Amino acid sequence: MDENEPVSGFSRLTKDEKIALAGKLSSDPESFAIELSRFWNEDPEMQDLIDEFSENTVSNYYLPYSLAPNFNINGKFFIVPMVIEESSVVAAASRAAKFWFKRGGFQARVISTRKLGHVYFTWKANRDLLTNNEKEIESYLIENTSQITENMRKRGGGIKSISIREMLPEMPSHYKLEASFETADSMGANFINTCLEEFASLLSRYFMEKNILIDAHDLEITMSILSNYTPECLVSCKVECPLQDLSGMGGGLDAVSFSGKFRDAVDIATYDIHRAVTHNKGIFNGVDSVLMATGNDYRAVEAAGHAFASAGGKYATLTKIDLSGGLFSYELQMPIALGTVGGLTQSHPLSRLSLDLLGSPDANSLMQIAASVGLANNFSAIWSLITSGIQKGHMKMHLTNILSSLSASNEEKSAALNHFQSETVSYRAVQDFLQMLRKNPDE
Ligand code: MEV
Repeated sequence: MDENEPVSGFSRLTKDEKIALAGKLSSDPESFAIELSRFWNEDPEMQDLIDEFSENTVSNYYLPYSLAPNFNINGKFFIVPMVIEESSVVAAASRAAKFWFKRGGFQARVISTRKLGHVYFTWKANRDLLTNNEKEIESYLIENTSQITENMRKRGGGIKSISIREMLPEMPSHYKLEASFETADSMGANFINTCLEEFASLLSRYFMEKNILIDAHDLEITMSILSNYTPECLVSCKVECPLQDLSGMGGGLDAVSFSGKFRDAVDIATYDIHRAVTHNKGIFNGVDSVLMATGNDYRAVEAAGHAFASAGGKYATLTKIDLSGGLFSYELQMPIALGTVGGLTQSHPLSRLSLDLLGSPDANSLMQIAASVGLANNFSAIWSLITSGIQKGHMKMHLTNILSSLSASNEEKSAALNHFQSETVSYRAVQDFLQMLRKNPDE
């Protein structure tokens, strides 16, 4: 391989050939190949299926698939599947779920489900030709895409409106055609992008058919693409209980001090961007884990969530708290565009299983579940932060990871877990402890 030249035809190589070629860049080509093959699925049909989800696949990357029990969401009991590599997240979600189980649970509701997409274009002819014909263009595009939208309309979705906007003042002569969609239980990315690309080619046809004369270069399509900013695909989730129910939460705090400190923590995330990002990241720990477990696009939801958190002109928390009337009331509101049909949701065997475990939810119910887990993780994080701190919970897992990296036996692991209950965990301290144990095995 000449590293100064691009490799061509890589995608056409067999799996073994790809591994052999890439292995030349690894420190040990032989173990590189062996390690990758260790994670192949023994069922060739299953492996073929997984390979088809992406390109140039040479192995599978395992992540833990966990279960968070005791979620009471709108009065219904759920055990929620979560896929995440970070320790303590599932424990935190489960802890909050159990806490709220008998305190009214998570009250979730979908506020809206609209999605947007755009055709960006330049227009050099008279502006009035666009604006005066906007309504007619809308009907023309909707009528001429009726075949593409037929199935979606049968499922209750489709194109809801189309408008034309100027990109002034920054980009004179640039416009965007904005279409809004309902996509029923699917995420709808393919549907939206197909409609948009069709609109793009129909736009010039409209002017031709209507005998509206424009020059060849007056209309140029720049691109057509859905928007992952989905502020109108919004879900809310709330937990609420009498203030006095928050006694005994730890940290020597009574119910009033606990809720006051909790409110301070939320206020800090409202006013301080450094805290806001971490606060919201904790929400995404929960939301993303559910999205991963159900084969949904967590990158899209993250991008939308962070943009939504900045919608007031400054990045802030996605949650809000109200302590009036003797109640602790805590709410998360965020966009979560997802699907329960289409994409990977029904084709990946584990996302299919997850959806089945959740009672085959429609997209709205899954939005509510994902938001509930996000709120659970955030509630749990703040609960720990204002009482014991989060390191206590993290340390056990950290210790386990260090012990595994030092090839500790099961006996050594349990001796270490016991020892470090009252000692500070660090790599060096664990290494010393193991050394001591190995020198004096009876200790
Ligand atoms: C860690 O993944 C998430 C937290 O940092 C969230 C938070 O601080 O709110 C614990």
